[in-house]
Amino acid sequence: MNRLHVLSVTAEIFPLIKTGGLADVAGALPAALAAHGVRMVTLVPGYPQVIAALETATAAATIDDLMGAPATILGGRAAGLDLLVIDAPHLYGRPGNPYIGPDGHDWPDNARRFAALAQVAAAIGDGLVPRYRPALIHAHDWQAALTPAYLHYAGRTAPPVVLTIHNLAFQGRFPRALLPALGLPDHAFTLDGVEYYGEIGFLKAGILFAQAITTVSPSYAAEIATDGGGLGLGGLIAGRGADLVGILNGIDTAIWDPASDALIPHRYSADDLDPRALDKAALQEAFGLDLDPAAPLFGVVSRLSEQKGLDLLLDALPELIAAGGQLALIGTGERWLEDGFRAAAARYPGRVACRIAYDEASAHLLQAGCDALLVPSRFEPCGLTQMCALRYGAIPVVARTGGLADSVIDANEAAIRAGSATGIVFAPIDRTGFAAALRRAIAAYRDAPGWQAMQRQAMRADVSWHRPAADYAALYRRLAD
Ligand code: ADP
Ligand code: GLC
Repeated sequence: MNRLHVLSVTAEIFPLIKTGGLADVAGALPAALAAHGVRMVTLVPGYPQVIAALETATAAATIDDLMGAPATILGGRAAGLDLLVIDAPHLYGRPGNPYIGPDGHDWPDNARRFAALAQVAAAIGDGLVPRYRPALIHAHDWQAALTPAYLHYAGRTAPPVVLTIHNLAFQGRFPRALLPALGLPDHAFTLDGVEYYGEIGFLKAGILFAQAITTVSPSYAAEIATDGGGLGLGGLIAGRGADLVGILNGIDTAIWDPASDALIPHRYSADDLDPRALDKAALQEAFGLDLDPAAPLFGVVSRLSEQKGLDLLLDALPELIAAGGQLALIGTGERWLEDGFRAAAARYPGRVACRIAYDEASAHLLQAGCDALLVPSRFEPCGLTQMCALRYGAIPVVARTGGLADSVIDANEAAIRAGSATGIVFAPIDRTGFAAALRRAIAAYRDAPGWQAMQRQAMRADVSWHRPAADYAALYRRLAD
């Protein structure tokens, strides 16, 4: 098998910079694909966190004018990743969240910052870095989505570009007046170009010009090709249906392994579940919950946003508490949800606890200690926390949408008899549907042997990158040949 050189282009990569699952995926792909003969180098913006993490760095290329100032492309390694880093302090030399400034708003020059990422990607595809020619470019989300547009307007047909949509809700829409600043020709501003409802649409352009489009689960691939789920892009996506495929994400099963996880106090496996009870107690203690081994303990690890449906959980709390349940939550995000969970913790001391924070160690403890992990998302392209939950024997209770529906097998009668159930999948995604799911979860939890059988089945589910990596490699080879 000959080696295939792929340039992955992303605005986030774990463990260097992360706001969500995109970072996890971008961080896991290179190692997962190495096993398939793919040599993946990742192009990332040179945020301070990234520059600081570089273990080795050499100037691979220079650009005289990248959105108004010079830039250096650094080649180097960090945390086991092969990187090309855009060292351009005028665009990326800002600490903290990669998209949002200290005033809580998007950086005003985000169009330029991420158009620059795509411009550099296209230039590397076209030979900017001496002795490095990727056979294919894999661009992630709106931040990298202009890559195939730049290649197109430069008259290039190679290398082919795969665009992965991790979340259609983030589309990268910017004012038309920016067209010249972004280095796009006037004639690009048409329906067959970057124009999108009178603005410049980064993701729209990517969907139009990429040679192939993937999204992060088969169900989400079907959902986004419809008017309802397409958020304005459904028609365009449906038109590209022949080039669209859903590949379910995996998780890094070395980082997420309850048998060897250094971030949890008691390690366990499907064959030896007993220590899990000690993790539950540790979680209750760490979060200030009553030390109550018999209480069904529900967990949440999530961004707090409308997408995640956690307002449904706020509504369901009185019934959950009345049924003897507990809730431990870790998350950050929108103010109304943060406030809502803070208020709930104050109202139900010992029964509801929240950490309004982003903290990896707490996320691991929560997965190891809670009985069931709640993911009531209104839509969910893939979702990673339910996969971590499967692996940790925390029974996922998930909405029937996108990747949640594709990764959890509902404990219906047939699945229980077949021994294949791994969680609870509910619909409709509303207060009634979720309340019913919580009742089912509590009833199932009270049947200890049945619950343990489901935990073991969940822990045996293949949530690794094994299969998805093979799918990506096959796609790359088909396009690059
Ligand atoms: P999304 O990308 O939409 O936020 P995913 O489920 O795909 O959702 O990915 C979320 C990732 O972020 C997971 O790795 C999850 O463990 C992590 N995560 C989310 N919130 C927190 C938090 N408050 N603390 C630690 N990790 C978190
Ligand atoms: C996005 C989606 C999430 C998915 C992640 C990684 O953040 O919201 O569902 O798991 O990308 O693909």
